[in-house]
Amino acid sequence: MSADRRIHFGGDYNPEQWPEEVWAEDTQLMKQAGVTMVTAGIFSWARVEPRPGDYEFGWFDRVMDNLGEAGVRVCLATMTASPPPWLSRLHPEVLPETEDGRRKWPGGRQHYCPSSPRYREYATRLVERLAARYAEHPALQLWHVGNEFGCHTRQCFCDVSAADFRRWLRERYGTVEALNDAWSTAFWSQRYDTFEEVLPPRLAPTFANPAQQLDYWRFSDDALRQCYLAELDVLRRVTPGVPVTTNLMPHHKPVDAFEWARHQDVMSLDFYQDPFDPETHLGAAVNFDLMRSARDGQPWMLLEQAPSAVNWRARNSPKPPGTMRLWSWQAVAQGADAVLYFQWRQSRGGAEKYHSAMVPHAGTDTRIFREVSELGRELASVPDIAGTRSRADAALLTDWNSWWALELDSHPSTALDQTLINRAHHAALLQAGVPCDILPPDRPLESYKLVVVPNLYLLSEENAERLAAYVEGGGHLLVSFFSGIVDDCDRVQLGGYPARLRRLLGLRVEEFWPLEECATLSVAEVAGEDGELSGAADLWSEAVDLEGAEAVATFAEGELAGRPAVTRHVHGSGTAWYVATRLEPSLMRRLMDRVREAASVHPVLPGLPDHVQATVREDEEQRFLFLLNHGAAEAVVELPEPMRDRLRPGSEAVSTVNLPARGVAVLQP
Ligand code: GLA
Repeated sequence: MSADRRIHFGGDYNPEQWPEEVWAEDTQLMKQAGVTMVTAGIFSWARVEPRPGDYEFGWFDRVMDNLGEAGVRVCLATMTASPPPWLSRLHPEVLPETEDGRRKWPGGRQHYCPSSPRYREYATRLVERLAARYAEHPALQLWHVGNEFGCHTRQCFCDVSAADFRRWLRERYGTVEALNDAWSTAFWSQRYDTFEEVLPPRLAPTFANPAQQLDYWRFSDDALRQCYLAELDVLRRVTPGVPVTTNLMPHHKPVDAFEWARHQDVMSLDFYQDPFDPETHLGAAVNFDLMRSARDGQPWMLLEQAPSAVNWRARNSPKPPGTMRLWSWQAVAQGADAVLYFQWRQSRGGAEKYHSAMVPHAGTDTRIFREVSELGRELASVPDIAGTRSRADAALLTDWNSWWALELDSHPSTALDQTLINRAHHAALLQAGVPCDILPPDRPLESYKLVVVPNLYLLSEENAERLAAYVEGGGHLLVSFFSGIVDDCDRVQLGGYPARLRRLLGLRVEEFWPLEECATLSVAEVAGEDGELSGAADLWSEAVDLEGAEAVATFAEGELAGRPAVTRHVHGSGTAWYVATRLEPSLMRRLMDRVREAASVHPVLPGLPDHVQATVREDEEQRFLFLLNHGAAEAVVELPEPMRDRLRPGSEAVSTVNLPARGVAVLQP
């Protein structure tokens, strides 16, 4: 096994916040905690370039050397996430503006307009110097570009952005006629005579043009990505052999993870589970599967998590003993090959002084430092997990374009939330122990036995045909309400909803009947079946007419009583299911069990107790079964054969695992 095969462990390292005497102690404590990698320099711009063009790298050389000598690898940030005060003093136009024309001032971070040529010029100039300086440094492992693109400045509405938007629109549409057509500007007298008249969707008296809003999401994602790509270009040229990542955020609407994945060598994610939320791991699970799937199953990095409490929620709970370990292992179980934290040493001053760190204010004689060091040791004891992968028979499709369009205003209901609806579908698989990939709708689907499509509101003709071909070829598809409604320009496909999926689903939706807040609706399985699919629904309902599909369950009350709520349609050699409402979680789970059994999609372990997550990672030589108990009570898990827990060296092989609350086991035959 190569010495480089390991699960990396460490955190953000911000040595500029501390006097140099502390640095030697840092590296010594890092060794004690089992740290193998830090991500450094994230907010160092003002310190390495205190005046424009005047670089002071000496102190950072010593940081790199210290780390290198201690055997700690460096994920080196490009330092461009927070421009120094001189930049906006010299060039105030780099500051971003809100939709109502208010400027965002320096004093926080990410105070730059993503379209600003000035910002990009100064940022790439710094990256050029940085890359040249550390290209050959033995500690350099990979590049970390920027930091959480779009975290604070998701969209900018300033004049520089407006000009860039017009350029972007010219490239997309060619002529102003095409733009008028795409944006349906015949409505409300919005016709443009030239591109010069076009603005970002700034604060308007009422609903701004939805297609304009949708394009602004696309444009803003692209503007952020151009900042990333400008730095990437420099890095590719100056350090061609060094891999590059940028840390994405979870459920992050401004940044299309699938697009960004194409330009990274390894995916990395920041995820802060919320100890107050008993289902926090379900949200994490969707994001972890997305990271794993975004680059075809390649291992990814959990680049940031909190050792304990964060400082940025309204109320910030510490992580009770064992949860940090559990949630770290969850990332590994779902394909991560690195577990890092924000941050190494807890700040004394600044806005994050109450954010936990690996070395807390109280020092190393602390629960946090002990739990961190224990995890460091544990991860080091199973280096052979690194590089192994997971295989899934089920895929969940999601699409940023559709997400942006789904959550626009002026809809039948503004309560639809892509993140929650994806999570509800994903949880029904996760809780059964079924691995699931998360893909955009234009990926090949043939290798999957089951494809789940939650609320794919915007659907291109090509992708609709892809879904139909998948089912015709024998695939099993489950589609949820308000899918396949609009085209790329947010124009409704006529002829009865969901026009592009009608033939495939064997039905027509005539009207949408969203529900009032907190209202529920009962759903009953149709006679002849076993009633398992009866229960409650909420949020949404639709008036469905069958056109070849059969009703599996119907609405049992209200205006739509007796009309289909869940349908099944045999199409070609496969089956397409449709759910015309939001089923409550246990009903969703029973439906998903039914659908996946029909599709012969099996859990990694049958009969999993509630709250236990089970995943597998493997390669040609070995197979690891991960069990994670997210529940508050001990769980008993039966194994198909006797297995040893790699986290309990010297323990006997067992066929029954007693997993305590927050317990983790990594099992091998
Ligand atoms: C984000 C940032 C970090 C830090 C943490 C705090 O993930 O990338 O710099 O602010 O949040 O949780």
